Order: sequence, then structure tokens, then C-alpha cells
Amino acid sequence: MALQKFYVLSCALLCIILEAQEVLGTSLIIGGRNVCPGEIPYQVAIHRKYYFGSGSYHWCGGSIISRRHVLTAAHGISGVPVSEFLIFAGVINNTWQSEEPTKVLRNVSAVHIHEDFNLETYFNDIAILTVTEDFPTDNHAISTIPLAEEHPAEGTECTTSGWGKTDNDTLPSILQVVKVPFISHNTCQEIYTDKNDDSILPGMVCAGYPEGGKDACGGDSGGPLACGGNLVGIVSAGEGCGLENYPGVYASVPYYKKWIADIVKE
Ligand SMILES: *[C@@H]1O[C@H](CO)[C@@H](O)[C@H](O)[C@H]1NC(C)=O
Ligand SMILES: *[C@@H]1O[C@H](CO)[C@@H](O)[C@H](O)[C@H]1NC(C)=O
Ligand SMILES: *[C@@H]1O[C@H](CO)[C@@H](O)[C@H](O)[C@H]1NC(C)=O
Repeated sequence: MALQKFYVLSCALLCIILEAQEVLGTSLIIGGRNVCPGEIPYQVAIHRKYYFGSGSYHWCGGSIISRRHVLTAAHGISGVPVSEFLIFAGVINNTWQSEEPTKVLRNVSAVHIHEDFNLETYFNDIAILTVTEDFPTDNHAISTIPLAEEHPAEGTECTTSGWGKTDNDTLPSILQVVKVPFISHNTCQEIYTDKNDDSILPGMVCAGYPEGGKDACGGDSGGPLACGGNLVGIVSAGEGCGLENYPGVYASVPYYKKWIADIVKE
């Protein structure tokens, strides 16, 4: 146990150093860094099982919002048979054979996609997966994240994470995390409208730096945007990844709180 404690401690230290480097724009999501084990315990990887043989491959991200439910984006879930999904919780290494002691796998029993989701505009890009068996409560690398009741103030520092494409266009095996400032719906709509882009619809909020460089990307879809320990957004879309003046787009959790509550209480 003493060894493990030391490991966690030194890793925490490493995270602080890596966080400092992040400011200098080094390494890895776009502009992010490797997480430490247990650092983002609400993050899951949603895999798809191979049609033949064993194994699965990364499909998109999600957040644990109750012992039975994973919140994700509709655009990744739509059109996929429920039996193909496999949820990886308590891992930072997303390879299906990874051997982390905290790793927990779950099948999916039901999928709820927003009734008015639009695959062309990404309007209402929100979905909930119900797992066949509760997530454990005694695993330090797995926990639920509380849903934000309201949007944070403009510029609030938030965290997004995922196993999506990194700076060099490759999919990382270790979960990446990056800090991004929150951008309200109205400000984001103005930013996009200034470029004659009318993509920002009701229920969408954004995050990112005006100069770009730090963002979620392909494969991060469905993953969390967490601000002050609460889930504020779901990785949804964006014009490219980390592009200047095109902040990442998220489905707003406060906006959809009633829709979410109605499914989770079922
Ligand atoms: C991509 O970048 C990551 C982190 O810098 C590195 O570990 C990985 O080897 C790179 N992959 C390629 C193909 O360059
Ligand atoms: C992730 O897990 C796989 C399978 O166990 C392993 O081959 C790979 O080296 C791991 N990746 C890292 C970066 O530790
Ligand atoms: C998922 O379902 C398959 C097929 O019913 C079963 O073989 C497997 O053990 C289940 N896995 C988990 C983690 O529940």
C-alpha cells in the first residue's frame, strides 16, 4: 500500500508539472496532456464490439451521471445497434486489452436519443445509455459527476477530456485532458455569425481560446466539459479542431436538464 500511495503522490506532482507545461502549449485532445489514473473518474470510453471474434474499438466518449446512466452525444450513438456498445469505465488506457486494476466493463441495455436530434445540424446532440449493471461505488477510479444547474460565467476555466485525435492527428491510448475557458451561447453565436456561420443553435454552448490550439476533436465526441466539478457540456462539434476563432461546440447540460432528469428517474 505504501508503494501505491507514493505512486499516486508522485503522479499528482507530475500532473502539476505537466499542467505547467500545458500553458507553454506543449504536447497533446488538441493541446492537452495525459491524465493520471483516477483523475477524471466520470469519463468513460464507449467502444463498439468487433463483429467477428473478440475485442472492441474506440467509438466516442461519455460521462457517468448515475450508477446506471452514461450521458453522451447523439451523433455517435444514432444508428448503432445497442448490442454493439461496450462501456469502459475506470481506465485511462483505452486499448481493449488494457489491464488496469480499476477497469470495469458494462454492456448497454437501452439507448435514449433526443427525439428532435438532427444529424445535419447537430441540433439536440444528446443521448443517454443505460448500462446492464450498476457501476461500482467502491472503485476510486469510477464516480458520477453532478450535473450543472446553470451555466458558469463567461471565461470560467473548464476541463474537457477524451481519447480523440491529438495534435499529430493520431488516436492516443491514454486519456487526454485540456483546460478551456467557457463561452456562453450568445457570445459563441456572435463569433460564428461573424464568419457567416449559423451553426450555433439553441442548446449549444462553447469553450476555447480565441487563438485556438486547445480543443476537443474527432473521437472525443460525447465526452465531458466540466466546470467547477459539475458537468456543463457534452462534446458535440466544432469547425475543425482547435482552429483560431472557432471554439469547440458542446451540448449544454443545464439547457437539457429536464430531458436528462426524465430519463434518469425512469
Ligand atoms: C503523437 O504525439 C504523441 C504525444 O506527443 C506521441 O506520443 C506519439 O508518438 C505521436 N505519434 C506520432 C505518430 O507521431
Ligand atoms: C495500453 O494498454 C495496452 C494493452 O495492455 C498496452 O499494449 C499499451 O502499451 C498501453 N499503452 C500505454 C501508453 O501504456
Ligand atoms: C456483455 O454481454 C455479452 C453477451 O451477452 C456477455 O458475454 C458479456 O459477458 C457481457 N459483458 C459484460 C461486461 O457484462
